[in-house]
Amino acid sequence: MEYSVIIPAAGQGKRMKAGKNKQFLTIEGQPLIVHTVAIFANDPVCKQIVVVASPSDLADMEDLLDKWRLKSDKVTIALGGAERQDSVYSGLKKLATPTTVILVHDGARPFVTRKDIYKLTETAYENGAAVLGVPVKDTIKTVSDGMIQQTLDRNTLWAIQTPQAFHYDMLVKAYEEANNTSFYGTDDASLVERLGSRIHITEGSYDNIKITTPEDIPVAKAILNKRKEEQKN
Ligand code: CTP
Ligand code: MG
Repeated sequence: MEYSVIIPAAGQGKRMKAGKNKQFLTIEGQPLIVHTVAIFANDPVCKQIVVVASPSDLADMEDLLDKWRLKSDKVTIALGGAERQDSVYSGLKKLATPTTVILVHDGARPFVTRKDIYKLTETAYENGAAVLGVPVKDTIKTVSDGMIQQTLDRNTLWAIQTPQAFHYDMLVKAYEEANNTSFYGTDDASLVERLGSRIHITEGSYDNIKITTPEDIPVAKAILNKRKEEQKN
């Protein structure tokens, strides 16, 4: 059940308003991107990791991975682009060895568990493509010009997370097709959906948050402390 992973971390973190890429923010003593990369660096089933960094962060990213002893033969850094999709595509082209299943996982999601990674990877092996997600808790409405347009049926709504896992050939084809047609989607699965492939949902955890705005920092600390307590018991 081997897999490889691309970790896009080349954003600017504008919504975090930290004055720097949020990947470098320290959460409980460890930079955000270190939390995320360590999950995969410590997993023997993960064969290759491509961390995608923006050109302006390249030196800092290299220093950080070095300092936290995350550099190894299986870790490479690729240069990111203007949009997340450009960064993932750059990472995809940087993969050195072929892989059956490739995962894409946001650098800003430091709490995915190995159990969920394995559940997802297995589903992708069997079915071609799978993404982690959770049923939405809120009622979701479409809004235009400050007015409600429609109330969506919550029973059919899921919040989609990463990792997202695909057969390698399927993801490459989807990225090439998107690139050729200048299509931009908000996640990796949306590029694969366009090609008509069926994508499975693997139910994940509400803890697998994406660190996006300042409010997420205390939540992240609480999740880490909850895990520390669980390990003690
Ligand atoms: N990302 C990337 N390349 C980009 C944009 C985003 O690799 N050009 C990465 C981010 O670093 C992050 C993930 O994609 O790990 C999800 O994106 P998001 O949470 O939107 O992060 P940012 O784009 O950095 O944040 P913001 O949108 O607030 O600027
Ligand atoms: Mg962004």
